[in-house]
Formats: sequence, structure tokens, C-alpha cells
Amino acid sequence: MKISSKITFPIEKEMKKFGPYYKKNFDTQIPLLNIITNYLIRRKGKQMRPMLVFLSAKLNGTVNDGTYTAAGLIELLHNATLIHDDVVDETYQRRGFFSINALWRSKIAVLVGDYYLAMGLIKALEENQTEVLRIVSEAVKEMSEGELLQIEKSRKLNITEDIYYDIIRKKTATLIAACTSAGAYSVGATDEDVSKMHDFGLNLGIAFQIRDDLLDYEKTNLAGKPSGNDLKEKKMTLPLIHVLSQQSPAKRKQILSTIKKHHKNGKKIAPVVEFVKENGGIDYARKKMTEYRDKALSILKTFPESDVREGLEELVYYTTIRKI
Ligand code: IPE
Ligand code: IPE
Ligand code: MG
Ligand code: MG
Repeated sequence: MKISSKITFPIEKEMKKFGPYYKKNFDTQIPLLNIITNYLIRRKGKQMRPMLVFLSAKLNGTVNDGTYTAAGLIELLHNATLIHDDVVDETYQRRGFFSINALWRSKIAVLVGDYYLAMGLIKALEENQTEVLRIVSEAVKEMSEGELLQIEKSRKLNITEDIYYDIIRKKTATLIAACTSAGAYSVGATDEDVSKMHDFGLNLGIAFQIRDDLLDYEKTNLAGKPSGNDLKEKKMTLPLIHVLSQQSPAKRKQILSTIKKHHKNGKKIAPVVEFVKENGGIDYARKKMTEYRDKALSILKTFPESDVREGLEELVYYTTIRKI
């Protein structure tokens, strides 16, 4: 599914300039780092975060150097956390190719992720973008907390729907909210508008992660990452959490015990996945995702109508129907 031109049209010039600007980040003298960096640059992903930064900036004013710093820093940190995430999740595929840990092993993936993280921070400091740095550092802290909370819950298998939202807000939505608020901040938006944009990003980010978790249930997803990986890692997401909450204690215990003992065994896990699908888990998660989508849209509606607002609206819809 191609990203709609309604999204890209208002920021065509900025995204064109962003490509080489972003690549400049990666100059290094270490040969191994260069090889990995070249590999990474060729598989750049959807770049939804820089798009969001530019659209959010344009909704509130005129794009400037600070907007590029924010977009570059966030995309860099996003990539660093994905490299770490694939180590943590033991995933060997990303963006349709091998992940860094699959090709170069975990040790190197951890170090490369750290390197990109540090580089992003230095870059923002050099450009004196301390507020952007503050917004983004806060998000990175939350992401680590979210990932750790998620691991704790996958060990104990005692996640609730509220804790699920807490986890996805931390691990995904805060970085999306950093895009929308830093974009607005960079063009001198009022505190009130920056905070409104932050709220918009949080709701969009939660919808984004629910969609991501739904993709894991879809065999035909085109995301270029394996489906069915979540349960393999004992990661319980909204469709399953909801269905479990509707069961008798005995049934719940039986399902949890299957997950606990057989999470790595695809054949034994398949009936759990089927059970979730047959008992309305997917529909429920879709419904919740739509609620967050609509909250995000209603915040956008408080801004005057324009091409840029339409682009953002389209991006919100795209988030919830995307196959990649
Ligand atoms: C993947 O994000 C990580 C999540 C928060 C689910 P994206 O789906 O935006 O990743 P790329 O950059 O397009 O690969
Ligand atoms: C979300 O993690 C992204 C980060 C916090 C880095 P997931 O593990 O849910 O995302 P994918 O499915 O691997 O992209
Ligand atoms: Mg993960
Ligand atoms: Mg993962």
C-alpha cells in the first residue's frame, strides 16, 4: 500500500531535503560501523516520524532548521531502538530483510544501537536544540520503561488492559508525541498548541501500536517482520488480553498455561490464536484502535482546515489501515 499523496504532498520539498540531511549523520571512520550503516540506510522504513514532524511543524508555522534537527534526531533514535528491540524480541527480520542482530549478532546490535543514540544526542546539542533534546530524551526514557514493563508482564503473564495501554503509551506513543510536539515547538507554537499536538501524538501513537499488534495476528501482513512473533515471546496484546478477561478462571488458567509452557511451539500456540480470533479479540482491538484514532482526529479538527491538516488526517487513517 503506497502512502497517499495527500500525506506527502504538503511536505514534498522537506522530505526530499531530509534524505541527504539524514544521511550526513552517519559519517564514521570505523569500517564495521560503515558497513552496518550502509545496510541500514538502504532499508529506511516508512519514515512516518519525520513526516509527522514536518506536518506538525507546518500546521503551526514555517519549517526551519530546528524542525530538521527534530526530525533527524527522532528518526535516528527510532532506528536505534528498533535495533535494540530486535535483540530483545529475538526477531531476525525487519523491513523485509535480516535484522542487524541476525546478520551481525546481538553484541554488535547493542553497540550500534548505543552509537546511533549517542550520535543523535550530540547532533541536537551541537545545534543548540535543548528543548527538542529534552522532549526526545524524555521519550527515550519512557520507551525503556515501557519495554521493561512489557518484559515483566510477559514473565508473570499478568497483564491487564490498563497496563497494556500504559506499556504501549510508553514504548511507542511517547515518541510519536515527541514528533508532533517537537514539530510544533520548532516553529514557535504557543504552549497550549504544543500541548495539544502532544495529546494528538499520544492518541495517534496508541492507535499505531494497536494496529502493529493486530498485524502480528495477520498472516498476510506486509510489514517485513514475522507475524505470530508476539506470543512466541509471551507478549500478550489487546486481542488476547480482552478475550482472556471474558473467560472463566478455569479456562483462563488453561490458556495461560499453554502460553507459559508452549510459547515457542507454533503448533501448540495456533489453537490459542484461533480462540482469540473466534471470540472477538480482533474486533475488540479494532474498536479500541478506532476510538484512539477518532480522539486524534478530533484534536486535529480544532486547527483550521488546510492541506496540511488534511495530510495529517490522512496519516491518522493510514496508521490504522496500514499493512506495513
Ligand atoms: C515500528 O515502527 C515500531 C513500532 C513502534 C511498532 P514503524 O512501523 O514506524 O517502523 P519503520 O520505521 O516503518 O520500519
Ligand atoms: C515497539 O516494539 C517498538 C519499540 C518500542 C522499539 P514491538 O516489538 O512491538 O515492535 P515491532 O513489532 O518489533 O516493530
Ligand atoms: Mg518489542
Ligand atoms: Mg519487536
